[in-house]
Amino acid sequence: MTTLITGAGLIGCQTAAMLAARGDRVVLLDLHPPTAVIASAPYLDQVTFVSGDISDRAAMLNLLKQHEIEAVVHTAAALSMAIRQTPTLAADVNLGGTVNLLEAARACGLRRFVLASSTTLYYPSFRRPQAGPVAEDFAFHAVSERPGSLYAASKLAAEFFTQHYADQFGLSVAILRYSAVLGLWAGPNNSVPGRLLATLLGRGAVNGRVSVTDPLLMWSGGDDFIDARDVAAANVAALDATALPSRVYTIGSGLLASFDDFVAASHQVRPSLIFDEVALPGTGFAGFPHQRTQAFDVRCAKEELGFSTQHDLLSSFKAASAWVSL
Ligand SMILES: NC(=O)c1ccc[n+]([C@@H]2O[C@H](COP(=O)([O-])OP(=O)(O)OC[C@H]3O[C@@H](n4cnc5c(N)ncnc54)[C@H](O)[C@@H]3O)[C@@H](O)[C@H]2O)c1
Repeated sequence: MTTLITGAGLIGCQTAAMLAARGDRVVLLDLHPPTAVIASAPYLDQVTFVSGDISDRAAMLNLLKQHEIEAVVHTAAALSMAIRQTPTLAADVNLGGTVNLLEAARACGLRRFVLASSTTLYYPSFRRPQAGPVAEDFAFHAVSERPGSLYAASKLAAEFFTQHYADQFGLSVAILRYSAVLGLWAGPNNSVPGRLLATLLGRGAVNGRVSVTDPLLMWSGGDDFIDARDVAAANVAALDATALPSRVYTIGSGLLASFDDFVAASHQVRPSLIFDEVALPGTGFAGFPHQRTQAFDVRCAKEELGFSTQHDLLSSFKAASAWVSL
């Protein structure tokens, strides 16, 4: 079986390596394939890297046909910081690119389509915490709790289109809402959690002192974080699952971690670092306005995909420390 992974970024490359390790054929597509990272991770030398733009509909159809693709893991996207600068990316890449791949998937009769979505969809609901964990099928107030960013809106719109292709054309889809993904690698680290990890491990430290000043990297209350290796395992589990009754899955730890938990994990890995006192902003993670107190319900992913996380916060810090030299 040949699987196309769109997006040769942090998660796409991890997923490709995991599939290649078990002998699957993998085509990895990116605007700018990061060929320099191939030597940095095992099994990536067994992956076919292809250069292309997901917003080119004809090119996506040709690609699927040419490589006889049977399944897609669609991770290529503009992330939140890029969309804040260039809002058109939300429409052209995150939504338009997803629709192009769904069209190609329908035309080629693919066996499975896995969409990378995001738990940022849930964030506006944190302003009125409920009892118990945040349900995967949570109800939100469509006006006051609409997606809190264009990035989240583009992910929700991509989910709607993906649901339509499943309902209307019988495409077998899995929509995975990843929580904040922790990982560093040899390629560009584009995400807010990636920047947070690098900063707390000492990137940018002056004389061994870490001073966190970017409000996006501080939060009060807790948030859910997941290791990039676990996200790759969830993608593989979604490719392999025989049935997907819920179709939409929260891929997270089901736990809440505070800023202080992060500093403590960093201290364990880098005991020589000194952290300047931080006045936490009273808001949630990555600039979202509400502090959160509710964890995610992750039971559907466990019961239907057989997925649960294997790496805790300390494990993520240890793995990431290889990429930050002091
Ligand atoms: N990193 C996180 O914290 C996080 C959290 C939730 C969801 N996600 C989602 O997971 C997916 C992967 O995230 P990541 O952390 O690996 O990001 P990343 O930035 O490392 O990788 C995304 C890749 O997509 C590529 N890309 C962008 N536009 C493209 C286009 N037009 N055509 C082809 N390729 C294009 C980029 O070059 C990049 O290599 C994304 O869909 C993201 O929205 C990420």
